[in-house]
Amino acid sequence: MNPEKKRPRQARLPLLLALMLAVSLAFLLMLALMLSDTQGSGGGDPAAYDAELAQALPAADAALGAALLETHECAACHLVGDGSVSPLFANIGGLAASRRPPLSAEQYLYEAILFPSAHLVAGYSDAMPGNYGERLSKQEVGHIIAYLLTLR
Ligand code: HEC
Repeated sequence: MNPEKKRPRQARLPLLLALMLAVSLAFLLMLALMLSDTQGSGGGDPAAYDAELAQALPAADAALGAALLETHECAACHLVGDGSVSPLFANIGGLAASRRPPLSAEQYLYEAILFPSAHLVAGYSDAMPGNYGERLSKQEVGHIIAYLLTLR
């Protein structure tokens, strides 16, 4: 007997569509899991930021922070150019407190430096390196925050 006769070609179409749907759903699920993973990489907890800030800010030195912006390439993105790729730091000290309420200026800057993907400045893409937590000590982050707060 010819199997083509038992199951006509058209009968396979719904099966094929269901399979395609299942594959796309699986893909979307994977994507969602990957995204939630980057968000959960330590960002999003202002109380944890405060504990680190309380350690780093008392000894923070804005002049050292200014130098760190050069040695860690922050300046290349944030201090030169027209601000179309990366937000310019011209008035970051004045803006930080209102960027992401209820985060304070210090909490916001801490998060923006160490967990850049947790929140994107409107109009910009997720282009900032996400590994400054490995490259900077908490005290160095404190120096940088102290310097950024002076920019108004
Ligand atoms: C390759 C370019 C690049 C480098 C290098 C870089 N950033 Fe960024 N940064 C960005 C971009 C793009 C954004 C906007 C998207 C976002 O919010 O993450 C941003 C956002 C920020 C913000 C928020 C600015 C605002 O206006 O609210 C701060 C603060 C910041 N970066 C600090 C730093 C510091 C400090 C360094 C160095 C330790 C650094 N960045 C290195 C590209 C860069």
